Amino acid sequence: MNAPPMNAPALRDQFGRSIEYLRISVTDRCNFRCIYCMPQEGLPWLPKADILSYEEIAELVRQLAPLGLRRLRITGGEPTIRPQLTTLVSLLRAIPGIEDIALSTNGARLPEMGAALKAAGIDRVNISADSLRPERVLKIARRDLGFDTRTVAAAAEAAGLGPVKLNVVVMRGINDDEVEDFARLTLDHPWHVRFIELMPVGELRSLTWDHVVPSEEVLERASRVAPLADVAAGTGPRGNGPARYLRYAGAPGTIGVITPMTHTYCGSCNRVRLTADGRLRTCLYGDHEVDLRGPLRAGEPLEPHFRRALAEKPREHDLLQMQVGGLRALSQVGG
Ligand code: 5AD
Ligand code: SF4
Repeated sequence: MNAPPMNAPALRDQFGRSIEYLRISVTDRCNFRCIYCMPQEGLPWLPKADILSYEEIAELVRQLAPLGLRRLRITGGEPTIRPQLTTLVSLLRAIPGIEDIALSTNGARLPEMGAALKAAGIDRVNISADSLRPERVLKIARRDLGFDTRTVAAAAEAAGLGPVKLNVVVMRGINDDEVEDFARLTLDHPWHVRFIELMPVGELRSLTWDHVVPSEEVLERASRVAPLADVAAGTGPRGNGPARYLRYAGAPGTIGVITPMTHTYCGSCNRVRLTADGRLRTCLYGDHEVDLRGPLRAGEPLEPHFRRALAEKPREHDLLQMQVGGLRALSQVGG
C-alpha cells in the first residue's frame, strides 16, 4: 500500500478548523449504568463482527497521522472492559506523529490496570467520578465495583497517569451538594476536577432539563470554599478540550467547567470521533457520520472518506434547539 506523503496538508474542515484530535471508542459496552448515560438493562450492544479490531483501528490512525492527527483519546462505553486493551495502546504508540494518548475511564479497573496501561503508552487519564460517597455512587453508577474516587485517582497518579482529571456530571438534587467537597480535593491533590453540565440525552426517563445545573451556579458554589481565579491560558492542565480552568490560591489542582448546555465552543472544535463500529462522527450531536469500516475492510485508502467527512463537519451543534430524545446515548458515540 502507498503511504501518504509525510508532508501532506493538514486536514481542515470547511471552516478552516484543523483536526488534530481523534476520540476512539473501542466498545459501546460498560460495567456501569450511570443514570445519565444508560438504562439499567443496558443498550442493544453492537454485534462483535461490527466492531473494529485493534489492527483495524491502528491502520486507520496510521492513515490519519500523516494528515495532521496528533492526539488520541481512547473512550467507550468503558474502554478497559475490552480484552487486551494494552495491545491497542502499544499499536497506537508506535505510530509516528502521535504525540499524546489519553484514556477516559470510569476508573473501576485502574487500580489493577494502571501500571500496564502506562507501560503500553497511555499518557494520562480522565476518570468519571460523580460522587465521593460510596452509597451515592451506587445510586448514580448503579454498580458496586469497589469504586472509591479518591483511591482510584491516587492509583492513577501513582501509575504515572497524571495529570489526573476527574469528570463530575452535576445533577440537581442528586449530587450538586458535593460541588464544594469535590472542589476541596484540589486543595490537597494535583487533580483537576471538571464539572460537566448534564446533557439530558438519549432515552433517560429519570433525568430532565430540571436536573441541569448551569456552570455559573457550580462556580458560585465552589467559590464558597475560597476565592477562585482563572488559570491563565496555556498554564492549565494539558488537554484538548473546551474546559475553562480556575484555581484556589496556592492549590495544586484546578477546577474546570465544561458547558455543553449553556455555551457552544464549536468555533474552536478540533476533534472528530470514531465509533466502535467504525464510523467517523464529526460532531457529537446530530447525525454527521461517515462509514470507514467498509472502505477499511475493502482495503481502500481512507483519505477521501476523511476529507468527505470533514467537508460535512457542521459549523456548530444545535443541541439547544434539537429534540432531546433524538440523540444517541453518549456511550454509543464515545462521550
Ligand atoms: N451528560 C453529561 N455528560 C455525560 N457523559 C456521559 N453522558 C453524559 C450526559 N448525559 C460524560 C461524563 C462521563 C463520560 C463518560 O461522558 O463525563 O463521565
Ligand atoms: Fe459507563 Fe461512562 Fe456511561 Fe457511566 S457514563 S454508564 S461509566 S459509559
